Amino acid sequence: MIGPRGMACAGGLLARVGSRSVISRAVRQSSPLRPLPATVTAPAARWWRAQYSTRPEVTINSKTYPVDAEWFNVSSTILNLTSRKLHLQKDHPVSITRQIIESVFPSPTYLSYNNLDPVVTTHENFDSLGFPPNHPGRAKTDTYYINSTTLLRTHTSAHEAELFAASKSPGYLISADVYRRDEIDKSHYPVFHQMEGARVWDRNTVPNGDIVAAVHRDLDALPKHEMIIEDPNPPFHPERNPLQPSHTPEEAEAVGKHLKRSLELMVAEIFKRVKESHARAGVKEQDGEPLKVRWVEAYFPFTSPSWEMEVWYQGGWLEVLGCGVSQQHILNDAGVPNQIGWAFGLGLERIAMLLFQIPDIRLFWSQDERFLGQFRGVEGDWGEMRPFVGFSRHPACYKDVSFWLPAGSTGAAAAGGKGREGGEWHENDLMEVVRDVCGDVVEDVVLMDSFTHPKTGRRSFCYRVNYRSLERTLTNEEANGLHESVKGEMVGRLGVEIR
Ligand code: DAH
Repeated sequence: MIGPRGMACAGGLLARVGSRSVISRAVRQSSPLRPLPATVTAPAARWWRAQYSTRPEVTINSKTYPVDAEWFNVSSTILNLTSRKLHLQKDHPVSITRQIIESVFPSPTYLSYNNLDPVVTTHENFDSLGFPPNHPGRAKTDTYYINSTTLLRTHTSAHEAELFAASKSPGYLISADVYRRDEIDKSHYPVFHQMEGARVWDRNTVPNGDIVAAVHRDLDALPKHEMIIEDPNPPFHPERNPLQPSHTPEEAEAVGKHLKRSLELMVAEIFKRVKESHARAGVKEQDGEPLKVRWVEAYFPFTSPSWEMEVWYQGGWLEVLGCGVSQQHILNDAGVPNQIGWAFGLGLERIAMLLFQIPDIRLFWSQDERFLGQFRGVEGDWGEMRPFVGFSRHPACYKDVSFWLPAGSTGAAAAGGKGREGGEWHENDLMEVVRDVCGDVVEDVVLMDSFTHPKTGRRSFCYRVNYRSLERTLTNEEANGLHESVKGEMVGRLGVEIR
């Protein structure tokens, strides 16, 4: 199963790849509902208001949006990344990964949408997909808002409704940058890339209106593969993974089978490329075991039944994607009530890290020729794919910061790292300060200690910041300077008292 940080159990570095993957976040989002904090930490909210009270609007990818100072929480660090579009950058590993997956879902059945705007409405990102109003995923601590109804998409599913409504093809793929406020470590970055896919059948156009026969015909036309598949659960389950009332058991089962085979073919393709690339570089495969995949029951607000796919990789199960039979209300609301189908979503960095053996998610944003140069020419020729050869590792420089929360702030939210029941303090606000001050030279930020003063009841935390650039050696003076700036910003923005 998936741990609190979403990690299955794979060993080695890749174990942590994308632990804030598509899936772990979805799992978190689908955990029991807790009340949202009223605002970001009160001092942080004040800080943002002060920054943006003079700024009535913001322009993202040449479109201008009205800013609401009560909600706006997008720093310029993040705004500057909205134009990067790594998934479209020639020879970039994220773009190469996208193209490899696209090759498994060919047109005209599947059309690709790779240029959809990152700014969406709360309706598109949440309501249209069936997220309840008090869902934790909507919190300002997790999501970048422009104003109360406009945000940077947190997932590519935000575009499902519009593409189902457009109904231009039986299937589609979306690749895009997505945005989430989150912790700092080797597999978490506030901007990453997802791919969404969907496939529908229309009762009005399939022969005799027979969806089941049509899906089976399409299933039979799909190639076979040699992977070992573990799929121990029934096609749906009344409590754990329910059939939707408007679907017959046969329909849901057929759609689920088509979904699973399609996605199995996709991972078969990816792992074939991993293997070939290893062979080319003379990397010894661990054990020559055949590729093994398992299907795990899951929950997403927008599918039922739902599954996660895990792949056996380097001695552990690695989550690869989430998927399921689309909630019928999404199709009905999109004006295509006669259609039934499936959808999936995955994180492209996680797969790119695996394809190219990229050890740190910050590398994707590097403009350093020593990184980008290693993939040049691969886009036109996948036969040239080779594992990434890391630059020499620069020394780590750890610096701790201990602080008291503002009086009256309970801070329970930070103690568990991710909880939200604590009211005002949220760790993600600290992460944001560190990113804004230090950019990409911080490798991770880890909670070391927390306690409550027995007399005053005040909460205290100690975090360890690991200053380590991917590209050069930081001097101690430089790290000290950054750390002092971080502390200053923490006081100013978060209202904490440094100890
Ligand atoms: N949107 C989900 C996430 O970001 C991923 C996902 C899961 C997409 C299941 C889907 C799906 O289309 O069916 O966590």
